[in-house]
Amino acid sequence: MKKDTTLGHAGRRPDKQQGMVNPPVCHASTVTFPTVAELRKAEKEPLDRLYYGRYGTPTTFAFEEAVAALEGGTHAVALPSGLGAVACALFALVEAGDHLLVTDNVYLPTARLCDGQLRRLGVETTYFDPMTSAEGIRGLLRPETKAVVLEAPGSVTFEVQDVPAIAEAAHEAGVLVVLDNTWSAGLYFQPFEHGVDLSVQAATKYIVGHSDAMLGTVTVTDRKLFERLRLTAVGMGYSTGPDDCYLGLRGIRSLSVRMARHQENGLKLARWLADRDEVESVLHPAFPSCPGHEVWKRDFSGASGLFGVVLKGGYSDPAITAMLDGLELHAMGYSWGGYESLILPFGKPVRRTTKWPFAGSCLRIHAGLEDPDDLIADLEMGLERLNASP
Ligand SMILES: Cc1ncc(COP(=O)(O)O)c(C=O)c1O
Repeated sequence: MKKDTTLGHAGRRPDKQQGMVNPPVCHASTVTFPTVAELRKAEKEPLDRLYYGRYGTPTTFAFEEAVAALEGGTHAVALPSGLGAVACALFALVEAGDHLLVTDNVYLPTARLCDGQLRRLGVETTYFDPMTSAEGIRGLLRPETKAVVLEAPGSVTFEVQDVPAIAEAAHEAGVLVVLDNTWSAGLYFQPFEHGVDLSVQAATKYIVGHSDAMLGTVTVTDRKLFERLRLTAVGMGYSTGPDDCYLGLRGIRSLSVRMARHQENGLKLARWLADRDEVESVLHPAFPSCPGHEVWKRDFSGASGLFGVVLKGGYSDPAITAMLDGLELHAMGYSWGGYESLILPFGKPVRRTTKWPFAGSCLRIHAGLEDPDDLIADLEMGLERLNASP
């Protein structure tokens, strides 16, 4: 089946739910067993059946099945947020004394998790330039390295790592590859065809798609890894609400058509901005100027609606504030992936080992599903305010 067909059907069992198209939302903590024998049997196989609410309900399992199909994996685990999914993936892999290699363009709270909770427990992290070659990765691997953590493209600065080449280097040393695949929504990048071992998504973004639920996923192609992930999630007390899983599952049904529009709008806005005098650079994997553009062209089948803009140097903070405060269609908020457009001023990105090459202020734009001409008109008026301000 083609992906669009899969997304309409994965995780559905109408014959098992009185013909209803969608799985019902099952609210359950307690699951009861009629006999001691059944109870004992369930204790032996808690990952393969309904056992207790924290292990998941039929709604969780339906969502997980659809996510696994989306990403091309065999098993997925739902978590209550995207960062929860990152944490679950990393905690499932490491123990005290281990080492992680993490791309320097990683989502900031992921770096804080590595430098905070994981460091406290004796796990060391080395950050590497997102454009590091496979040879460079080989030089950074240590005997105690457990995983290479990638985010391609980075969700703030958009460099695209060469995932297959890095994965080859990692696998030679028996090291696993974790990818934050949120930008592609799992639709425009098939992680397991490119060497990834654990694919994480903040399903909060494009999968949910409507800015109304927090949700995360980790997908794998290996039963043993799945067991480690599920037991880590259950052991750390994570429990993902069935209403949120339902919203995630519903989002998957329309993901492909939404993504096509996000892509189209994002490219229209990015191209328009690239021609403006106020703009130094557009950070978008589909632009040849984006580091890793060639890798994006080779490995991705599309682009989402999230990209960055670097303004020319010299615009004052009050001028940028005047530009942003007056926008009517681009709200400011720390997220993306919903149907509505967003803009975020982030000055300069936080970097640990690499030097950010631009002097001007950066904006991150999420192109929503609105009419792109209206979005451009909103930005045009914003740039007029930018120029008119001292
Ligand atoms: C790339 C990326 N990964 C993970 C997350 C974390 O997701 P959540 O906010 O659902 O915890 C985010 C959130 O912005 C993100 O942008």
